[in-house]
Amino acid sequence: MSAPDLAGCPPGQYPEYAFVGRSNVGKSSLINMLTGHKDLARTSSDPGKTRLINFFLVDKEWYLVDLPGFGYARIAKTKRKAWDFMIREYLESRKSLFYIFLLIDSRHDPQTLDLNFIQWMGDKALPFCLVFTKTDKLTKVRLRMVIEKFRESLNNKWEELPPIFTSSSKTGSGKTEILDFISRTNSEYGYLLTEAQDPVT
Ligand code: GTP
Ligand code: MG
Repeated sequence: MSAPDLAGCPPGQYPEYAFVGRSNVGKSSLINMLTGHKDLARTSSDPGKTRLINFFLVDKEWYLVDLPGFGYARIAKTKRKAWDFMIREYLESRKSLFYIFLLIDSRHDPQTLDLNFIQWMGDKALPFCLVFTKTDKLTKVRLRMVIEKFRESLNNKWEELPPIFTSSSKTGSGKTEILDFISRTNSEYGYLLTEAQDPVT
């Protein structure tokens, strides 16, 4: 199902994993790759394809959540602001959100927009991971250099780095690692939601 804002989201009865990042970074493609459904989340080479908060229930146990991209320059400023608000409101206030996956295009050096977003998540104490996407587009050596550069720019500010994944929706690389992480998190923390719903406890 899709929601236009936090108030329109389904009841928070399952653990949620939200995919965020700049427009066109590959959020919807990664969701399709992880679920093995080519056309589940709508993708496009035109940035700004995803416009709502989209929930995909997996194994009737947890949600993958696809969000619009942030910082897309070619839409009206008012709309960009409205999307930004919607994304941040959801991420900040959704109680059943277990982890945020911030996707970063592995072809580029650290971008201010991404670093600012990381800072914001840190300030809000939101649990997040990083996923370097489109790794099929560069060599292993180059990928290692990009991640190292990113680590360095985070090391200046953070004592502990978040979990880091790499992915390619073209080759399927990263699928096992990301799904294992989600599965482990569900087993470790899933009880928190069950307890919250139990009126006796
Ligand atoms: P918005 O919804 O507009 O914010 O974009 P998005 O982040 O959901 O990106 P989307 O999945 O729609 O992908 C954008 C473009 O990048 C599409 O043309 C995809 O085919 C391409 N793409 C996505 N992931 C990969 C990848 O791993 N490798 C390559 N080579 N291309 C990719
Ligand atoms: Mg999308």
